[in-house]
Amino acid sequence: MNMQRIETMTGNYNLENYEEMYKNFNWEEVKKEFSWYDSGKVNIAYETIDRHADNPDKADQTALIYTAPDREEKLTFSELKQKSNQFANVLKKHEIEKGDRVFLFMPRSPEFYMSFLGILKVGAIAGPLFEAFMEQAVRDRLEDSEAKMLITTPELLNRVPVNELPNLEKIVLVGDTNSSDHIDFYKEMEQASKSFDIEWVDLEDGMLLHYTSGSTGKPKGVYHVHNAMLQHYQTAKWVLDLQKDDVYWCTADPGWVTGTSYGIFGPWLNGVTNVIVGGRFSPENWYKTLQDYKVSVWYSAPTAFRKLMSAGEDAVKPFDISNLRHVLSVGEPLNPEVIAWGMDAFKLRIHDTWWMTETGAQLICNYPALDMKPGSMGKPFPGITASIIDNEGNELPPNQMGNLAIKAPWPSMMRAIWKRPEKYESYFLNGWYVSGDSAYKDEEGYFWFQGRLDDVINTSGERVGPFEVESKLIEHEAVAEAGVIGKPDPERGEIIKAFITLNDGYNKSDELLEDIRQFVKKGLSAHAAPREIEVADKIPKTRSGKIMRRLLKSWELGLPTGDTSTLEE
Ligand code: PRX
Repeated sequence: MNMQRIETMTGNYNLENYEEMYKNFNWEEVKKEFSWYDSGKVNIAYETIDRHADNPDKADQTALIYTAPDREEKLTFSELKQKSNQFANVLKKHEIEKGDRVFLFMPRSPEFYMSFLGILKVGAIAGPLFEAFMEQAVRDRLEDSEAKMLITTPELLNRVPVNELPNLEKIVLVGDTNSSDHIDFYKEMEQASKSFDIEWVDLEDGMLLHYTSGSTGKPKGVYHVHNAMLQHYQTAKWVLDLQKDDVYWCTADPGWVTGTSYGIFGPWLNGVTNVIVGGRFSPENWYKTLQDYKVSVWYSAPTAFRKLMSAGEDAVKPFDISNLRHVLSVGEPLNPEVIAWGMDAFKLRIHDTWWMTETGAQLICNYPALDMKPGSMGKPFPGITASIIDNEGNELPPNQMGNLAIKAPWPSMMRAIWKRPEKYESYFLNGWYVSGDSAYKDEEGYFWFQGRLDDVINTSGERVGPFEVESKLIEHEAVAEAGVIGKPDPERGEIIKAFITLNDGYNKSDELLEDIRQFVKKGLSAHAAPREIEVADKIPKTRSGKIMRRLLKSWELGLPTGDTSTLEE
């Protein structure tokens, strides 16, 4: 197979001619697809669910298929409208109002989706938290957002330091509970009316806060507004190529942006059946899901594909996955080997897409009707201007590496970093949004990812800030100082490696290092715990006390150390 270029495959795609459309596209046209174009009344939850529920041709179509080892449930658009109305009524009863932050901390379940949509229907701002977060991670996010309400399960409640969060007035528990201190989800849902008057909001009103990590400081709240629907809708139509009879599966958790933009909004704005899978990953389960639900469009991540790849061809053979017609990837570099494997295993191309929590939706993509160059992230979505710029904000010619940047604004762009205006401003230069990724563009306009320019770690597609991990490490009684880096790993992209110095009286031992690892795991989350910990004599720092992670990385990789003139001594 020619791995330089894989030509487009035959099919009837929503976007037939990318180049043509790129020249003519205008976001204004997309607005006409929405009811608010005439009514002036906006709510993304209405466009996502109610609009289909109110359409006799679509009302009884399955919107959500939930499948987990111990549970299977299907909800039509009409049922999902009613359930989210009921939850919106519960929220109203407990005095949740427009602009309030309501957080969700629970595993994927039908209740998650009813609650999430209910939050949007009252005009509040939803804050989904990854279920694997431990106490510190939960606390940081609830504290910063000043969340008024949290929806969680009785099992997860013990990771929520309720008494130390003065703004957190109410807790909704989903599950068996005898607690009289908290709101019982099922009981209140039963009593709630199935009809609800949606809170109509402005396109620029907030709807979603996703916390994500940078290289410094605590995780930051990336703030998204209802207007993002324009881009969720159009990218799901042209990049995911969603069509009327598709069954779609996005493997991302709604605690991360892919799980909301393309696990909720993209598919449902397009009125497509959405499969949601609970439980743990295993190649057999995944192939079985593709088979049993006749999944036709599938959005996943390189780490998952690499795991399937290492499970071998025999793992896929017993399953009939012939309904699959379009496969996509996001979150980390998609290796050409994985694409070659996909051509073998699925007889399909795996389409890489590039975007970020801050961008709200896909920006640089491979399209079904466009030739693919394996290793390239593809070309900018129509209506999006992407470029490579230098540190002064000047555009660079083809094939020169620089900052991957996007002309601001675009419909789904974040509108703020919660309570940190200076942080928000720091993303922009000369009218460009600067991504923090380095890349180059070739003569044909394809973009090629090169790496992160800051110290942010990408492990199994999950974004981890070194500062958070370092802060947790030094809370351990044995640890004096810590510096954390991403170390290249064939399956996970990167793993987290920590360098530490020990306090007096502590000696290096396997038990101690494991104890430190567990300490981070229990404090933050499993994916943020260092897989490798190395005891060092000293952690290199600048004269102003900043940890020189770059130097740690060079040591680790045996690379030249470059400019060390700012080193402490
Ligand atoms: O470094 C890029 C990498 O993931 C970062 C964004 O992470 P996050 O905000 O968690 O969003 C992930 C999913 C939208 C980017 O700055 N990244 C994302 N997609 C790709 C990628 N790196 C290489 N190729 C991609 N397709």
